[in-house]
Amino acid sequence: MTLLSVEGLSIRTADGHTLVRDFALDVNPGEIVGIVGESGSGKTMTALSLLGLLPAGVSVACGDASLSGRPFLRDGRVCERPNATMIFQNPTAALNPTMKIEAQLIRLLTFLGKRRGTGRRGRRARAEALLESVGIHEPRAVLRRYPHQLSGGMNQRVMVAMAVAAEPSLLIADEPTTGLDVTVQAQILELIRSTVASRGIGVLFVSHDMGVIAQTCRRVAVMYHGELREFADVDDVFHAPRDAYTEELLASTLEQPSER
Ligand SMILES: Nc1ncnc2c1ncn2[C@@H]1O[C@H](COP(=O)(O)OP(=O)(O)OP(=O)(O)O)[C@@H](O)[C@H]1O
Ligand SMILES: [Mg+2]
Repeated sequence: MTLLSVEGLSIRTADGHTLVRDFALDVNPGEIVGIVGESGSGKTMTALSLLGLLPAGVSVACGDASLSGRPFLRDGRVCERPNATMIFQNPTAALNPTMKIEAQLIRLLTFLGKRRGTGRRGRRARAEALLESVGIHEPRAVLRRYPHQLSGGMNQRVMVAMAVAAEPSLLIADEPTTGLDVTVQAQILELIRSTVASRGIGVLFVSHDMGVIAQTCRRVAVMYHGELREFADVDDVFHAPRDAYTEELLASTLEQPSER
C-alpha cells in the first residue's frame, strides 16, 4: 500500500498569491522520494503544509493527503495529525541553544512517554540508545554538551534521533545536508538511507541539488515556480527529462548531465 499520497495540493497567501499549485506525489513504505527545484519554487511550503506547520498568512487552499491509508488532509483542511516528523537545514539553529542535548532529548521523551508510560530511568537509557542508533559512538559525552559545542554533522545526527524517537511512519527532510561539508553530507545521507532501511519508514527528501537527489532517491518531483513539472524515476529524469525546466536544472547542477 502507498504510504503517503498527496493530490491537488495548492497553497496560498492571505493576500491571494498562489505559492504552490496542484501538487501531487506518493511515497511507498521504505522509499526516499525527492523534491527538487530552485530557491523559491515552493519545496519548503509543500513540506510544511503536510505537517500543518505553514507560517502565519500562508494556508492550504485545497488538496487531499493520506498517510498509511488514513486521510489527514481533506479538501485543504487538516483532519488528523499525520504520524510524520521533520528535520531541517541548519540543525544547530533548530536545537535549543540554552539546553544540553540530554535535557532536550529527555524533554522530548517525557512528552512522548506521557503517551507510552515510560519511566524516568527508562528515558535516560532511551536517550543513549537513540543517539547510538544514529551512529553516535559516545552518547554519554554528547548528552552532556550544548548544541554549540558539537559539529553541524553531530547536531544533525541528534536531530535525526529526535525525529525518529516518535517512531514516525514518514520523515520529511528539508535540505538536511545543505551547509555541511561534503564528507559529513555523505555520512548524513547514509544515516538517512540506513534509517529508512532499518525502520521501513518513508522519506520526503527536499533539496535544490540534483546531485544529492540522484545519490539518495529513486523517484523525484521537480518543482518550478510552485508547479510540479514532473514526477518520475531519477534515472528517467536524467536521461530523458520531459520538461525544458528540468533540463536547465540538470545542466546547472551537472557539467555533462547526458553522460551520466
Ligand atoms: N511566510 C511567508 N509568507 C508569504 N510567502 C512566503 C513565506 N515564506 C516563503 N514565501 C514564498 O513562498 C514561495 C516558496 O517558498 P519556499 O520557501 O517554499 O521555497 P523553497 O523551494 O523551499 O526555496 P529554498 O530552496 O530557498 O529553500 C517563495 O516565493 C517565497 O517567497
Ligand atoms: Mg526551502
